Amino acid sequence: MRKLKDIKPLKLENYTLYVINQLKLPNELEWVKLENYIDVAKAIKNMLVRGAPLIGIVGAYGFAVGIKNCIENGKVMENGKEIYETLLNTRPTAVNLQWALERMWNKFENLLKENKEKEEIVNELFKEAYRIELEDYHANKMMGGYGQVLIPEKATVLTHCNTGALATAGWGTALGVIRSAYENGKDITVLVDETRPYLQGSRLTAWELKEEGIPHYIITDNSAGFLISKGKVDLIIVGADRIVANGDVANKIGTYTLSVLAKEHNIPFYVVAPTSTFDLTTPTGKDIPIEVRDEREVKTCGGCEIAPEQSKAINYSFDITPAENITAIITEKGLINEVNEKNIKNFLNYKIN
Ligand code: MRU
Repeated sequence: MRKLKDIKPLKLENYTLYVINQLKLPNELEWVKLENYIDVAKAIKNMLVRGAPLIGIVGAYGFAVGIKNCIENGKVMENGKEIYETLLNTRPTAVNLQWALERMWNKFENLLKENKEKEEIVNELFKEAYRIELEDYHANKMMGGYGQVLIPEKATVLTHCNTGALATAGWGTALGVIRSAYENGKDITVLVDETRPYLQGSRLTAWELKEEGIPHYIITDNSAGFLISKGKVDLIIVGADRIVANGDVANKIGTYTLSVLAKEHNIPFYVVAPTSTFDLTTPTGKDIPIEVRDEREVKTCGGCEIAPEQSKAINYSFDITPAENITAIITEKGLINEVNEKNIKNFLNYKIN
């Protein structure tokens, strides 16, 4: 078994949250201190931290930090609501943020109902955020185990965006499966979509793979089709920001295109996500709120202007992959083969209840 590093995107020291500034990678590994919930909200919105599971975890710590800072002023309930809403309204598509904040809110309400002392409320909220972090890390290891079985002994795997340690509590979802396969001695080469406009692939995924010593090539997003058509790709593996009741998946813009290519060329297309990414209250992909970000992210690259100032740009951050394009969804509780509403509901009810 190969030995891999354990990259961590966040740390808590004495009730203070530090995160790796993902905007500075790969050039600089900078830890940023997030002193209050506004700092946390800005870090999520401006994508210093990103990736569906990680924004849930950081959001949960942000809630605990916010309550800690305001608990002395007496208006805990009003402040709690404000903190919850501010964190929730940072990024709309990844459901993990909503899931984690709801969990924190329920914990908070119960602690208040139980008339707990201020100090205990704060302690319990930090503990709850830590539980969310730990559960995510273990879910990733489980997904790695289930998923790596699907990867051939020798394979070229194409992935999109960053779904690794930097997008989660550590290890990763889709990139976690790649890590597990490599750790188990498989002969893996990774094709890394650069993932315009924010370059999460070339900046972050390539950095993680370089750190681990996993063989990889960065490719421009628009070369995927040609490489697949030449038989150079054995399978595609991606993460998810939200998986809804009928099995449609929201993920980084460009994922849908890859799923169509996989179908056309008859190669497997796997989605890897923890059960905290499922949202059974949203019926289909078209009901998912899709984040639209500033056009400047498209018109600039690394701080340089790369388009005429007068031209407008469209910057949807995510797209929807229909359930029928997905070979299987890999979760920490096992695989959903044949992705459809009935199978998803059976799977989640059977495993969770
Ligand atoms: O805009 P980002 O970088 O937050 O988008 C991230 C993705 O789309 C990931 O694929 C997804 O969050 C899953 S990460 C484990």
